[in-house]
Amino acid sequence: MHEDLEKVLFTEAQILQRIKEVAADVSRDYQGREVMLVTVLKGAVFFLTHLAQALTIPARLDFLSIASFSPGRALPGVVRIAKDLDLDIHGLDVIVVEDIVDTGLTLRYLLSVLSGRQPNSMIVCTFLDKATRRLVDIPVKYRCFEVPDRFVVGFGLDYNQLYRTLPCVGILKSHIYQR
Ligand code: IMP
Repeated sequence: MHEDLEKVLFTEAQILQRIKEVAADVSRDYQGREVMLVTVLKGAVFFLTHLAQALTIPARLDFLSIASFSPGRALPGVVRIAKDLDLDIHGLDVIVVEDIVDTGLTLRYLLSVLSGRQPNSMIVCTFLDKATRRLVDIPVKYRCFEVPDRFVVGFGLDYNQLYRTLPCVGILKSHIYQR
């Protein structure tokens, strides 16, 4: 699969090191508290497992998945919750764990739904941030890496459900998603 990458942006070693740094920041900021890690399936799972194991504070985990109404992502932000959380987040300190924030429209919807459940606090921790593409303001508190405005895959991020299992993050060759 590596041969489908135009360029490797972050190696596995760089990623694991950076996740440890972010976990240390989270553990320091939430010292003495418990957190609820709400992870958006499926892409953020790889990030979550490394992040969660590196935390030194108690953490609960739960998962949800979002389905786009437009399969071709032609209408970004038009989404619904396909699988909801199992746990109640009322009164908890929630950290929403995402794989990538692009336009921010998906997260804006998700944050508005979750804030209606009255967590004590809620912030966003994303593996990748494509900040130059942002259309709406999203309070991203923690990010591992900023990425350029290119289609990236690996370490959980997919194209057509493939490439998630790559241990690095890279730019996908454009002829693959243009064909
Ligand atoms: P947003 O609503 O535009 O922020 O879209 C966020 C979602 O789009 C992410 O959770 C990913 O599923 C997907 N996405 C955006 N950019 C990329 C990319 O470069 N590679 C893989 N998925 C992406």
